[in-house]
Amino acid sequence: MKNVNPKDRSINVGLLGLGVVGSGVLKALTQKSALITKQVGCAVHITRILVKDQDKPRAVEVPKGLLTTDPSHILEDPQVHIVVEAMGGEMPALDYLRKALQEGKSVVTANKEVMAKHGPELLELANKNCVQLLFEASVGGGIPILGPLTKDLRGNEITAIRAIINGTTNYILTKMTYENMEFDEALKEAQELGYAEADPTNDVEGIDAGYKLAILASLAFQTKVAAKDVYREGISRLAARDFRYARELGYVIKLMAIARSEGGQLEARVHPVLIPKEAPLAKVDGVLNAVEVEGDLVGRVLFHGPGAGSMPTTSAVVGNVLEAASNIARELPSSSLITLDRVMTLRSISDLVTRYYIRVTVSDQAGVLAQMAAILGNLQISIASVMQKEADHRDQTAELVITTHPSREKDVQQALKELEKLEMVREIGNFLRVEE
Ligand code: NAP
Ligand code: HSE
Repeated sequence: MKNVNPKDRSINVGLLGLGVVGSGVLKALTQKSALITKQVGCAVHITRILVKDQDKPRAVEVPKGLLTTDPSHILEDPQVHIVVEAMGGEMPALDYLRKALQEGKSVVTANKEVMAKHGPELLELANKNCVQLLFEASVGGGIPILGPLTKDLRGNEITAIRAIINGTTNYILTKMTYENMEFDEALKEAQELGYAEADPTNDVEGIDAGYKLAILASLAFQTKVAAKDVYREGISRLAARDFRYARELGYVIKLMAIARSEGGQLEARVHPVLIPKEAPLAKVDGVLNAVEVEGDLVGRVLFHGPGAGSMPTTSAVVGNVLEAASNIARELPSSSLITLDRVMTLRSISDLVTRYYIRVTVSDQAGVLAQMAAILGNLQISIASVMQKEADHRDQTAELVITTHPSREKDVQQALKELEKLEMVREIGNFLRVEE
């Protein structure tokens, strides 16, 4: 821990990045300086800001001389006590965080990619150097969730996390649910509104949600879950008709991040699911996020709110800065409450047992259903309901929507392969898991 200069009693922050999040942090720390001084016990100043392009117009007023393009002006400056990283991306952010921790600076980061891929290494480095590494903003933007998981809910054995942790996809799915839009149209609207990026891959393929789930699951189950451990499917294969059929069955479709522990095994997955329309998570719409935590003492608690955006994310970053600054000001030892030493085996998606929704286009003729039922029956997949939809008379095809009772994923995958080979099956339209 770096000692605060007792003469000026000021804690100095070096900010890496002055984009959406960095600008909010600069604004909040400047505008709230009197309140912050009162809370921390001394002033907290941003003394340097690293950017790529010093000449770029900024969303906030930047005091003269603060901007730099040389990371050593922050990372190697002994007067900087806290480094706030709001740059994003894996590199060079990871190198900068390592360097800051090695230099004995506390670190606050909003970077989910770095934390999901390298969290354990960085936490170890922070412990070794007796400094703090805080990352509340990396999951759920403004929603306080990592703090509660590591502090307030610590007395619980967490059994499950179910979360909607990507605002862009939740916006797209909300449009598909209530406005009958197709995926491409909803994505275009999300891009026009600035929710989705020009290259939307990270959001729509579930990569961003996968990073966040890896962080949540690591803290909740006190084990090391890396981004690569999370099974992942995106939302681009969903069609407007899936939303209509889901509604008829009493469900909505959401991109959910689910982590569950059972008998020492852990499952961690991100994919679209059907959830009952009366479930609390089904009502989380638009760009909002929500995380439901299930613990043995508390039961189920839902954390709900803005999962992104400049000021909500700033709220989480500033909260962490105040925590780190207060510790430094009080010269408290910075021991972490995070332990990731529990040994758990990851459960493969093929061992998942859940209910399924299967949409198939078939030739509209006698005997089709019997042949399909035989395939499912032979694999011990019990049918819960069958709806025949939207027959196309010119094509002589019909669409069947089948839901199953709880079945094993590997059997369902095998059934899909066998169904596809049937002459009367024109296309497997979609297949979705149901989360009750
Ligand atoms: P952003 O608007 O793209 O800003 C990134 C900033 O970092 C820019 O100021 C950029 O400099 C600077 N930067 C990037 N690479 C750099 C490099 N190699 N050297 C020096 N400066 C560099 O990003 P953001 O939306 O604020 O996101 C920042 C982080 O917060 C990311 O990890 C993101 O995942 C996380 N986050 C964002 C949100 C959100 O709502 N935006 C929510 C939660 C978490 P220039 O300005 O000169 O280009
Ligand atoms: N791209 C993210 C989302 C925002 O859509 O939720 C930052 O986490």
